[in-house]
Amino acid sequence: MSKIHHFFNTKNSSLLKKLDFDRFGVNNIRVYVKRDDLLHPFVSGNKWRKLKYNLLEAEEKGHKTLLTFGGAFSNHIAAVAAAGSEFDFKTIGIIRGEKVEPLNPTLAYATQQGMELHFVSRTDYKKRSAPDFIKKFEKQFGTFYHLPEGGTNHLAIKGCSEIIEEINSDLMQRPDYICAPCGTGGTLAGLIAKADPATHILGFSALKGDFLKEEIKTLLSSFDANHSQNWSLNTDYHFGGYAKWTPELVNFINEKRSKIILDPIYTGKMFFGIFDLIQKGFFKSGSTIVALHTGGLQGIEGFNQRFGQVLRAK
Ligand SMILES: Cc1ncc(COP(=O)(O)O)c(C=O)c1O
Repeated sequence: MSKIHHFFNTKNSSLLKKLDFDRFGVNNIRVYVKRDDLLHPFVSGNKWRKLKYNLLEAEEKGHKTLLTFGGAFSNHIAAVAAAGSEFDFKTIGIIRGEKVEPLNPTLAYATQQGMELHFVSRTDYKKRSAPDFIKKFEKQFGTFYHLPEGGTNHLAIKGCSEIIEEINSDLMQRPDYICAPCGTGGTLAGLIAKADPATHILGFSALKGDFLKEEIKTLLSSFDANHSQNWSLNTDYHFGGYAKWTPELVNFINEKRSKIILDPIYTGKMFFGIFDLIQKGFFKSGSTIVALHTGGLQGIEGFNQRFGQVLRAK
């Protein structure tokens, strides 16, 4: 068994933890957190899920190099760099925008893990999904296994879909809701792909705008025709857009009402949304909700550096 097989196939103990709150007693709502953030410090949360089948595929096809795309604070970039160092892949990160020195904590970490960073203009970065643009990097770096931005592709959706079986078996019942934060929508598509029709999959968009729903439908159509139709996307808790925040959001994360460390880009917004919707009576009385902690905690340091140490990291 290869190191990669071993890493991804070692069975984790249940990562499903119940949150204990008086407030949920009001309408008898139970909230569980699927602590995928505990899977690994850097190959964490949905990155672990998304990389699983991609790394196995890269290994099987004999690739020695992984090339991927990301913003300067990307959790995915940090995860690919960590995975490369763990499994002896050379890693190349194509980063959006100009190089700023000293490197921010995410990119400094990626470099320490051996990732080679290559900065491209924002205009060029827009071509990141175009096959011709991607292929051009072969001239510079030789052949590579391409991982798209955010790690979302067919194999990533397959990896994320496995979360459903783990939740159902750990909970020993079908939850009424499974909630997840959304960026590209790949994680949510994975959950929808394998969800029991009795479970509503509820995504919380970290981005402003309504385009994501269509993108999730496209991801689903390329993955599996037989997916659950019981899902929706909430777009009310983006706090101004991607990586935008308000003091209310930061206070919520710092208060740690969930007793769990949350990141400000994805999981903090989702938990804020879940708590708010519980208070507003959105979830039917007696519901069991599972919230997926998708990781992203590496981003806290960079967020604090940008915005003045607003988040307590512990
Ligand atoms: C911590 C974290 N949570 C959630 C997401 C959103 O996942 P997806 O892009 O699959 O919607 C991301 C970004 O990809 C992330 O880094």
